Amino acid sequence: VTPYLFRHRGRNFLTKDIMRPKDLDALLHVEIRPTDIFLITYPKSGTVWMQQILVQIMEAALPGWGGDATNRVKVPWLEERTADNPFRERPDPRIFGSHLPPDMLPVQVKDKRIKVVYVWRNPKDVLVSLYHFAQSWVLLETPESFEGFYQQFLDGDVYMGSWFDHVREYCAAQEELDVHFVQFEEMLKDLRGEVVKLCAFLGKDLTDEAIDRVVEMSTFKNMKTDPKANYKDLVEVHRYKTETMRKGKAGDWKNLFTVAQNEHFDKVFKDRMSHLPLSFIWE
Ligand code: PPS
Repeated sequence: VTPYLFRHRGRNFLTKDIMRPKDLDALLHVEIRPTDIFLITYPKSGTVWMQQILVQIMEAALPGWGGDATNRVKVPWLEERTADNPFRERPDPRIFGSHLPPDMLPVQVKDKRIKVVYVWRNPKDVLVSLYHFAQSWVLLETPESFEGFYQQFLDGDVYMGSWFDHVREYCAAQEELDVHFVQFEEMLKDLRGEVVKLCAFLGKDLTDEAIDRVVEMSTFKNMKTDPKANYKDLVEVHRYKTETMRKGKAGDWKNLFTVAQNEHFDKVFKDRMSHLPLSFIWE
């Protein structure tokens, strides 16, 4: 693990100024309200996108719910302990974002059968997106080469640890969590269809017009210019060197993977994920 990450409970967290082991452990016992909603992802799998979708659904269902803040404030990141994001004070129903694995979530998420939305993405594109993000985010070490980063990703030697473990663990937790799985690539193919399924899961009965608006607000094109959704404020304060709304496509891995890397990845995937109950769209 690089000096930018520390290992805790078998996963890798950020060394610099966001997380500490005792804060992470304290999250296990955070009070969760029955109306809370959790948005969970492995990094670079569609967190910011789903944040926007959930915010738009909530605002359509409960006008005035979010106030005037950015999505970063409306859907605070559970494991961030910065003073400007006091998630405990958010109005109900609260929505949290998190990258934590199931065994590190607040125990009440399971005990109270809290609604969890889990977004997952083709891991080759996750790898490529994270590779670019590692060059952008000041809290991550800039990779020396794509080849080296590719191996680190397969070894789980990256932020949050292994993608393979994260997805497998959430699939295995389906019995104990009230979880709705959404695939990034399905949202690219049919955003409206995925929003409709999500509303059904959340018990939000929106009109066709309201759903149309949620979809329109959540397109890549719109989010790129929506200052409440696109995290540009973090570019302005030099936390990100480049925009988090980078390409927003499927199949960008083809621009970086060699044929050999792709074949090797497929083999690792087959070995490690063969019993997965999820089907994949690779491009
Ligand atoms: S983070 O930093 O973990 O919160 O990143 P995360 O938001 O999970 O993932 C960032 C990638 O999601 C893409 N994105 C979108 N794609 C399509 N449509 C919309 N609306 C959208 N919003 C965000 C974003 O561009 C990142 O992917 P890449 O491949 O790097 O472009």
